[in-house]
Amino acid sequence: MRVAVFSTRSYDRRFLARANAGGRHELMFLDAALDASTAVAAQGAEAVCAFVNDRLDAEVLQQLQRGGVRLAALRSAGFNHVDLAAAAALGIAVARVPEYSPYAVAEHTVALVLALNRKTHRAYNRVREGNFALEGLLGFDLHGRTVGVVGTGKIGECFARIMAGFGCRLLAHDPKPNPDCLALGARYVALDELLAESDVISLHCPLTPATRHLIDARALATIKPGAMLVNTSRGAVVDTPAVVAALKSGRLGALGLDVYEEEADLFFRDLSAEVLHDDVFARLLTFPNVIVTGHQAFFTEDALTAIAETTIANLDAFERDGRPLHAVSVERLA
Ligand code: NAI
Repeated sequence: MRVAVFSTRSYDRRFLARANAGGRHELMFLDAALDASTAVAAQGAEAVCAFVNDRLDAEVLQQLQRGGVRLAALRSAGFNHVDLAAAAALGIAVARVPEYSPYAVAEHTVALVLALNRKTHRAYNRVREGNFALEGLLGFDLHGRTVGVVGTGKIGECFARIMAGFGCRLLAHDPKPNPDCLALGARYVALDELLAESDVISLHCPLTPATRHLIDARALATIKPGAMLVNTSRGAVVDTPAVVAALKSGRLGALGLDVYEEEADLFFRDLSAEVLHDDVFARLLTFPNVIVTGHQAFFTEDALTAIAETTIANLDAFERDGRPLHAVSVERLA
């Protein structure tokens, strides 16, 4: 099958080419992100393969369909960037990679928690400058602290398991409680109770209409003063200007972000010689108690191998019987 693969970097090409052993599919690797101005590049392809910041809205999907595309194979678990209703109406199947390595994302989340708590990012710079003073580097024992996990699916469960290993008390919030998290000792509570009691709050829910700006000014007013917030789910789960205000007031003690609401204009490319135009993002970078990584939580050898293999399996299944292995249906948006 001929596939236009958007937003590819060297690592995507390497892992996808390896999974596509024998060249079963004709993969056209494109640097450009998919949007209304680039959709034309998929002309003649039966499928597009897209990543998290590609746009698959109604306009783009219509263009793709006119060009012959019948499948959108996402290289991600999240599918918030696809207009599923429009895809269904146009007869374009949507596939995703439901699980590739929950460990990759959970472990990166823990890395952010540990670095923020023990100020590793500041210690690294200090020691290189010959500054061995400890003032300002004081952390706390995670053992015995309360960790709130919002969304206890595959990644949230994995994160909860690691934090249980640290000896943390676990609170959880999810419309569908996970028996394995209950077995770990997690107590399911309302969001406000989780926010009020947790020393560390970690977000692992998908971005849906119900979770957009779940952490807004109102929610931030209920958090335990000085609590740490970590978001490795999707940027828009958090209202970023509200978070900046909470950092300025000191209500929020530390912030770790791997995702950002407006990341599509920033992440996955080298902008080090450019002027930063996003003032909210620029403000975030000025806080000593904020660490931002550029959507790299998934970025392990294991995860990239699994993403590539599942993506090729989706293409194989679609070519064979007209249905991808892991179809996303419109009902999933509810
Ligand atoms: P999952 O589908 O296994 O789990 C999501 C959980 O969130 C489910 O248990 C669901 O019931 C729950 N949920 C839904 N609405 C909720 C709400 N309003 N409040 C609380 N919980 C709610 O998904 P998985 O694999 O654990 O991934 C979670 C999210 O992590 C993905 O949707 C994606 O956005 C993000 N992600 C980020 C990556 C990164 O590199 N930073 C990589 C992979 C995923």
